[in-house]
Amino acid sequence: MTTPSLDELEVGDLERDDLPEAIGLLARGMRDNPIHVAAFGDNPEKRRRILERLFGALFRVMVAQQPIRVRSDGRIVAATGVAPAGSCQPTPRQGLALAPAMLAAGPRSAGRASRWIRAWGARDPDEPHVHLGPLAVDAHLQGQGIGSRLLAEHCRRLDATGEVGYLETDRPENVAFYERQGFEIVDQADVIGVACWFMRRPPRATGDG
Ligand SMILES: CC(C)(COP(=O)(O)OP(=O)(O)OC[C@H]1O[C@@H](n2cnc3c(N)ncnc32)[C@H](O)[C@@H]1OP(=O)(O)O)[C@@H](O)C(=O)NCCC(=O)NCCS
Repeated sequence: MTTPSLDELEVGDLERDDLPEAIGLLARGMRDNPIHVAAFGDNPEKRRRILERLFGALFRVMVAQQPIRVRSDGRIVAATGVAPAGSCQPTPRQGLALAPAMLAAGPRSAGRASRWIRAWGARDPDEPHVHLGPLAVDAHLQGQGIGSRLLAEHCRRLDATGEVGYLETDRPENVAFYERQGFEIVDQADVIGVACWFMRRPPRATGDG
């Protein structure tokens, strides 16, 4: 695939029919994130397969999700999950429905992943917030402004509704990426041996009223 021009990018809602393509992209794009290496081990293809299964379960079970995607020339080049306020933590029933995908990773990986997810969940803000993630630009297209376009659309929506944004990240280079669009570090912690940053974004006045 040739490099998409930023003018040709189309940003919008991820539809149900787009899910398989977006899940494949998210698994490829996030395969090498440090938290995934720590949880799922050194084999990249194994990590990709586990993530594909987990993200598939996430979007199937967490029905409130309002994911966003970027399309170029008919293909999805970036995608993100967006959990509206009050919907990011699974209910007990949703937790049960997610468990098989987690257990399929194997007992050691499942144990590490549940420690990681509990540690992130414990830091979730009490205030209403829109929770971003998973988020990725396809692996061979990173660093060309595509992620910034996706994040700008997410932030535009936050500002339009006056809501707080929140996310976690496990890569220091992502912190500046999010800071550029108004996210601020609210916490930092070592989670299963990986440095993680927790970031909040207050809404900006849109000037509409
Ligand atoms: C993080 C990510 C979504 C950013 O999207 P992108 O299209 O690559 O980023 P943009 O080109 O819009 O912006 C570039 C900035 O993003 C950051 N960045 C993070 N990862 C990067 C990467 N792999 N390549 C280039 N820039 C990256 C840097 O701050 C960079 O700024 P700089 O050029 O001044 O160093 C994308 O790189 C990605 O999918 N990374 C792997 C998965 C991941 O970490 N997802 C986020 C989980 S919280």
